[in-house]
Amino acid sequence: MCGIVGYVGWREASPILIKGLHRLEYRGYDSAGVALINEKGELNVFKCKGKVSDLEHFIQGKELAGSIGIAHTRWATHGEPNDANAHPHCSESGEIALIHNGIIENYRVLKEALIENGYTFRSNTDSEVLVNLIEYIRTTNRCPLLEAVRQALRQVVGAYAIAVIERGNPNRIIAARQSSPMVVGIGDGEYFLSSDAASIIEYTRDFVYVNDAEIAVIDRNAPLKVLTLDNHDARIDIRKLELSISQLEKGGYPHFMLKEIYEQPRTLVDCIRGRINPETCEVKLSGVIDHRDRFLQARRIIFVACGTSWHASLIGEHLIESICRIPVEVEYASEFRYRNPILREDDIVIAVSQSGETADTLAAVELARKAGTFVFGICNAVGSSIARATDSGAYIHVGPEIGVASTKAFTGQVTVMAMLALAIGHEKGTVSEAYYHEVAAALLRLPETLEEVLKVAPQIADLSKIFTYARNFIYLGRGYNYPTALEGALKLKEISYIHAEGYPAAEMKHGPIALIDAEMPTVAIATPDHTYEKTASNIEEIKARGGRIIAVCARDDEQVRRSADYVIEVPVITECLMPIVVSVPLQLLAYYIAVYKGRNVDQPRNLAKSVTVE
Ligand code: M6R
Repeated sequence: MCGIVGYVGWREASPILIKGLHRLEYRGYDSAGVALINEKGELNVFKCKGKVSDLEHFIQGKELAGSIGIAHTRWATHGEPNDANAHPHCSESGEIALIHNGIIENYRVLKEALIENGYTFRSNTDSEVLVNLIEYIRTTNRCPLLEAVRQALRQVVGAYAIAVIERGNPNRIIAARQSSPMVVGIGDGEYFLSSDAASIIEYTRDFVYVNDAEIAVIDRNAPLKVLTLDNHDARIDIRKLELSISQLEKGGYPHFMLKEIYEQPRTLVDCIRGRINPETCEVKLSGVIDHRDRFLQARRIIFVACGTSWHASLIGEHLIESICRIPVEVEYASEFRYRNPILREDDIVIAVSQSGETADTLAAVELARKAGTFVFGICNAVGSSIARATDSGAYIHVGPEIGVASTKAFTGQVTVMAMLALAIGHEKGTVSEAYYHEVAAALLRLPETLEEVLKVAPQIADLSKIFTYARNFIYLGRGYNYPTALEGALKLKEISYIHAEGYPAAEMKHGPIALIDAEMPTVAIATPDHTYEKTASNIEEIKARGGRIIAVCARDDEQVRRSADYVIEVPVITECLMPIVVSVPLQLLAYYIAVYKGRNVDQPRNLAKSVTVE
């Protein structure tokens, strides 16, 4: 939520900042702005409502000189998206400019105190309160900006990643973080600052991840310095990040979401590589090998996650319970963190997050670690906050996911969970050799299976045209595919704005069946599994009530074909991996319906890719 970017060095800052904002736009896109200091030390701030392209238009012909600057793309928390609430925010005197990602929870109290001291406010944001607080401290204590930032942050309760510059100082950016991502890129005689290393990967591969309660002093004439809020020097750990720029581009696809759907055969190759031996089908995860005893002794596993990652975790629950015979609970991270949960030493918490930055999931990880529980992370973004906060983990390695609707991360997460279950189950002896090999072999074949599944895209594109009228959808599935139904419904609602609900197929008759009529399509997942016949009966029940059915079923399934209005045929693999297969046509269905409805697929309204606020 909100993207921040900064630059200080020998190049013109504005093109770098604007490019960085485009790359960070997935984090928020309701307003954008930039602040630059030119050689004379003048501070120029430009900001407006709308997307980064609107900002680009707005700044044309303006005074953009300067080799130092900060920029921001916003996802509104306090105050509606408008020009005044856009960042950067300037202090009352206009001397200091600040960009902020996060929420200052005690901003009201701070604001009232500042108003009593004569400050007035131009925006409704908590961020303007912070910049004025910094100015107030700098003026009353007659201290340098760095010290004023440090003292101000000690008064702040909440989450932040901030960058601050001041008029008259064309050399220095002060940046700080608490619970919101921030990374400093080290170049040759230049520094970059961003919410996401991927946004500045074309300039450098060397990154320093700023930790919570740390302040980075980024000065063009000095080595990077990082201080704690207590004013002690912090360790600087430079990490290398390997990422190719092509992974951040659409590569000829009209949308990132479509590109990411089509990437799945390849991303699963990357996800599985080095983890399953193609000859022996042996599954090895270093995160499990290194903590073998923990996994062998685990009495309970608790998944914590949000959104799509939570749906993947529900599949992880099935996989681990059936293959490892360890009881599993799946928690919304946002509920878990405030529930005073009972955690024991022999529990394992598994945090699942594509971005590795989701505020609730990160807080759940911190809570579990404080309780002394071992925490395993399943993340995509390498070096992300959750990946760094966990005791061990397994990356899903599907590459940057930029479309707001998660697609390849979901299939990567389920794939890692299947490997995790096999690795633990094998060590524990709770899985038969035959089943272990069957699932491992099916995992190895997943890339080609998904190539096959993707051939249904043209049919789904046609089918989608028929359903753009619908105002409500229901998705039904059972067993492993109940979470797939939830995920299909989430995909549709977030990008098409059509209301959609996922339900376990058999629960249908306990209420939702009342909704069925010719106006409300049902997507029924009826692939062969041990509840197939029952799901087929549920389809009949819907049919009998005039419902329209789109069934996802096996090729040549005559029984379902007879009762469904439309069928989407998929190849069948071992039951526990079918969610990976079935999710692909559901992603395509959501995508094409949204496209035909003229929605902004990659940047749907009100959403942001990385939810770094509560
Ligand atoms: O980055 P995370 O996996 O932690 O994100 C969790 C959710 O915010 C995310 O999955 C969200 O639900 C997606 N927009 C779904 O497509």
